Amino acid sequence: MIQVNMAALTSLTHLYLQGMVERSRGRILNVSSTASFMPGPLQAVYYATKAYVTSFSQAIAEEVASNNVTVTALCPGPVATGFVAAADLDGVAVFDQAKTAQSVAQCGYKAMMRGELVVFNEAKFKCLLNWVVPFLPRKVVLKISRKAMEKPRSS
Ligand SMILES: NC(=O)c1ccc[n+]([C@@H]2O[C@H](COP(=O)([O-])OP(=O)(O)OC[C@H]3O[C@@H](n4cnc5c(N)ncnc54)[C@H](OP(=O)(O)O)[C@@H]3O)[C@@H](O)[C@H]2O)c1
Repeated sequence: MIQVNMAALTSLTHLYLQGMVERSRGRILNVSSTASFMPGPLQAVYYATKAYVTSFSQAIAEEVASNNVTVTALCPGPVATGFVAAADLDGVAVFDQAKTAQSVAQCGYKAMMRGELVVFNEAKFKCLLNWVVPFLPRKVVLKISRKAMEKPRSS
């Protein structure tokens, strides 16, 4: 997961950016996650890799801003894809209201074309992660984050 989410993303960003900077033109869209804004008990490595994606993308965005190149971090909430099965998250409540991959892709594409730095596909996550979570005690955030990833107990 570390290789795919962090190392490959870093190498690809580097490879594509070189030409974009030379041409003074280009846009990069990196797929991060709402998970990038807090630690994720039960999905610790995944959340940490996404924190890297959001942090790295923003820093690179600033580095190449004067070259007319933009870098956008797309931070979706739950999306209905093969991810749920792959991450063993079947039954986890937050995925009951998962959005479609198409709607998330459209959101990300539009934000990239506007040159936005960070984009959420759902307003509620933008509000919660920018204006609520940063002001909560860390231990409270950990409890909430863990609860969000817990499977229902079988009776
Ligand atoms: N689904 C969500 O709720 C959600 C929420 C926020 C962010 N995201 C992010 O959205 C992105 C796409 O995920 P998804 O939801 O579409 O999940 P997905 O359906 O599980 O797709 C993951 C993709 O990653 C590829 N992949 C996995 N391991 C790989 C490896 N070792 N080498 C090369 N490719 C590999 C898979 O390839 P194969 O098809 O060949 O296996 C697949 O195309 C991810 O970055 C994920 O973190 C997802």
